[in-house]
Amino acid sequence: MNQNEILGIDIGGTGIKGAIVDVRTGSLLTERIRLATPQPATPKAVADTVQKLIDELKYEGPVGVGFPAIVRKGIAGSAANVDDSWIGTNIEKVLEKKTGLRFFAVNDADAAGIAAMAFGAGKDYTKDGVVVMVTIGTGLGGALFVDGELMPNLEIGQIFLKNQKTVAEKFISNKIRKDANMKWSDFGKRFNKFLSHVDAVLNPDLIILGGGASKSFGEFKKHLKTNAEVKAATLANAAGTVGAAVYAAGKAK
Ligand code: BGC
Repeated sequence: MNQNEILGIDIGGTGIKGAIVDVRTGSLLTERIRLATPQPATPKAVADTVQKLIDELKYEGPVGVGFPAIVRKGIAGSAANVDDSWIGTNIEKVLEKKTGLRFFAVNDADAAGIAAMAFGAGKDYTKDGVVVMVTIGTGLGGALFVDGELMPNLEIGQIFLKNQKTVAEKFISNKIRKDANMKWSDFGKRFNKFLSHVDAVLNPDLIILGGGASKSFGEFKKHLKTNAEVKAATLANAAGTVGAAVYAAGKAK
């Protein structure tokens, strides 16, 4: 088994995506397979889908998995975009039991951030500087890096913005944009209310945007008014998959 070629899986609210990744370069060695996230996304249903993905890629070896919730020592601490029965469940154990492979679980936005810091927009800040990654998908994910060190589980989508009764990710996300059929300019203005607040509170040097909406960065970037520089993740939506594999590579040693 080549420990530099590791399967990364990104579990999202609507899709479960996986590819074998060269963890030295961050490049995908296979196509990125996407299966629909089962609804309800219970531990059993998600484990069955993960097994299908592994079968399709004919993979054996350690697996990194980005999970869309707080993850501490392999255990889910929240479940905003998956079934509530995940809370308190050991993600690694559930997937290991189903597949017979070793699993290493990390918050999905932390995974995307790990990839962006290693191979993408954050690579000039690994020794010096504060970087915030925001993933814009079903929810809003966050990752914070100080001089290259990750502060895990930054639940940036759970903040409340001024005059809002719901958390920020219910005010703006890629799902909210799609559901409301929003124009990119309206998305940009609304997203700026969130991002300019994050910028004012955390004062990072760089903000990296990932997740589905980051592919259309050019359509909304002019509405973002931050002191920090804002860049789209060069790996766009693949960052979560790549970062999960890189995370597992570090843990599996
Ligand atoms: C969750 C985060 C997750 C983000 C992106 C949020 O709803 O609370 O843990 O990183 O969605 O999936």
